[in-house]
Amino acid sequence: MNTVNLQLRITTCVAPDPFIFNYLSNITDDLNNHYKNVIYEVIDREKLTIKKLFETCSTPLLVILHKGIILYTSRDNKIFYHENTTRVKYKAYIAGKDIPPLINLIQDPKVNQQVIIDATMGMANDLTLMALTMTTTTFFAFEENFYIHFAVKWGMLFHFNEINKGGIDISRIHFIYGNITNHIDIFSKANIIYLDPMYEETITTSNIASLRQVTEYNREQNIKLLNTIFKSFKGKIILRAHYKSHLIDDYGFNMTIRKQSKTHYGYRYHQLDN
Ligand SMILES: C[S@@+](CC[C@H](N)C(=O)[O-])C[C@H]1O[C@@H](n2cnc3c(N)ncnc32)[C@H](O)[C@@H]1O
Repeated sequence: MNTVNLQLRITTCVAPDPFIFNYLSNITDDLNNHYKNVIYEVIDREKLTIKKLFETCSTPLLVILHKGIILYTSRDNKIFYHENTTRVKYKAYIAGKDIPPLINLIQDPKVNQQVIIDATMGMANDLTLMALTMTTTTFFAFEENFYIHFAVKWGMLFHFNEINKGGIDISRIHFIYGNITNHIDIFSKANIIYLDPMYEETITTSNIASLRQVTEYNREQNIKLLNTIFKSFKGKIILRAHYKSHLIDDYGFNMTIRKQSKTHYGYRYHQLDN
């Protein structure tokens, strides 16, 4: 349960129309029904700039636009869903040129792929790739940071309902706000769990840079996450980690080395019955 009260402001583009007001109403309904710890305020945008809106108040600001939904966590940092390089990776996969390492590890005849848990959703690039590729799989996507969770959830809903309609049947994804270690009942639903925890080494992609403004590396928390999974989950555990991460040796993951990248993917089977 999330008990700490969080603040959020919501506004629209400068010239909102019924389409925008419909999203505003859906978003506030969602907050009223599912996020009791979030105190929000709807702000009339008028002709105010984002800079102006942050002059007297530092509360994060969700902006509903015709091109998508953007969450400003501060005047200079925004979180918004975008497909990033996922579409390119997916096209290469479809063309038979390249199987992304994560997909290669998932498409494993030893494990049932009907339900997959993404324990650390972040900007959902990996989730998008998995959902594009595994077209009948159901996903449970956990994110413990409310602002990342909410911006990415609504960003993905908007993207796949309005911009890339039907690119992913978004009803296959269950977005869950919270730390997965508080939701261990979910473990029994899946045979595959994917983890991409924050790492301590500085990685300079713009995606991670905006995440780092609101969430940070926490060694103890990563250990708790791995310990909980090894205690309660049965199946294939897939890890993405920096090549220097202590998690690789501490938990005995078999990593595939990628020469071009500092982050590698690996796996372990854990108490898999077959
Ligand atoms: C490196 S990012 C994940 C990036 C993601 N794979 C992607 O494709 O965008 C790690 C994210 O996991 C979240 N996180 C870390 N530990 C978590 C936990 N135990 N439960 C839920 N979310 C967690 C962090 O808040 C952060 O947003």
